[in-house]
Amino acid sequence: MPSAAPIRRHFASDNYAGVCPEAWRALDAANAGHTVSYGDDEWTARASDLLRETFETHCDVFFVFNGTAANSLALASTGQSYHSVLCHEIAHVETDECGAPEFFSNGMKVLQLPGANGKIDPGAIERVARKRADIHYPKPRAVTLTQATEVGTVYSVEEVKAIWARTKALGLTLHMDGARFANAVASLGVAPKEITWQAGVDVLCFGGTKNGTHVGDAVVFFNRALAAEFDYRCKQSGQLCSKMRFLSAPWVGMLEDGAWLRRAAHANAMASRLRAGVQGIDEVRLLFPTQANSVFVDLPSGVTHALHQVGWKFYTFIGEGGCRLMCAWDTTEEDVDRFVADLKTAIRDASASSQHVAASSRSAG
Ligand SMILES: Cc1ncc(COP(=O)(O)O)c(C=O)c1O
Repeated sequence: MPSAAPIRRHFASDNYAGVCPEAWRALDAANAGHTVSYGDDEWTARASDLLRETFETHCDVFFVFNGTAANSLALASTGQSYHSVLCHEIAHVETDECGAPEFFSNGMKVLQLPGANGKIDPGAIERVARKRADIHYPKPRAVTLTQATEVGTVYSVEEVKAIWARTKALGLTLHMDGARFANAVASLGVAPKEITWQAGVDVLCFGGTKNGTHVGDAVVFFNRALAAEFDYRCKQSGQLCSKMRFLSAPWVGMLEDGAWLRRAAHANAMASRLRAGVQGIDEVRLLFPTQANSVFVDLPSGVTHALHQVGWKFYTFIGEGGCRLMCAWDTTEEDVDRFVADLKTAIRDASASSQHVAASSRSAG
């Protein structure tokens, strides 16, 4: 029997994917001759203008190396070291940034909020923010929400506005971790402005890497007062790229002809295909609605192990447990179908082996 072709693309993370052609071409084009460093170059100006066009507003834009830095520095810019930031209990800023928001803000406390499907329950904001008002407790300053969420769900415009209503009433700033913002917009089919500044978002960390660039996220300040001296924050934290054109040029490639949305829509479509492929299999329990580019499932542990054994990589530690199957801009229909076929084989083998064990113990008995 011919051996199966090696698995080239996995469902572990959209970070596993390479650079998409539009971003790569722009990088290549930027790699010509000398140009001014530290962001005073044409590529950075063009990328910033394209972001302003995308959001249809004046906003201040900064490019940093990754999402952790973007979130941490953006949150730090909302207040002082004695403030607190409220986030969902499984938010990346809480669970996966190694305390960077606290570190870069010199001590802001991150407080957790509950909510189903990875989304903040708006009612909890007031409860947590008003829990204490004395000088011994950090003063609430901002709320951060993740769009799309860590479990692949997407806040609707109305849901973001419901959170905004609470933050506004409490005088809090609204931050959006948009590591998968492109997937969220592609899923919602709304104009980017509708789900950001028109819904009360003060500052957005717009993820480039998961969308198809090689590195770098954009911090977009709709509330421009918050951007005061943000360039100093970037420099001090080692986030001011000297050859900035190589952080900003891929954004030009992604934004110029809408590649950012096309690529995200494709990743979302692959997740929908994957969900359709596993739906209805008795041994597979779907954990969350699939609204962006990931599918979360609960599998029998032997099946997870068997899939890992045949070479599939996917995570089992994100969110509230289960397996996270993440699609990327380059996931193909064949990748999805092959995974589903391997999953069905693993389930069949696991069931055959448990029947065999049962039969042997009966005959032994
Ligand atoms: C929800 C979310 N926010 C932010 C990030 C950015 O992280 P990084 O610093 O690895 O770019 C990630 C990456 O996995 C993420 O999933």
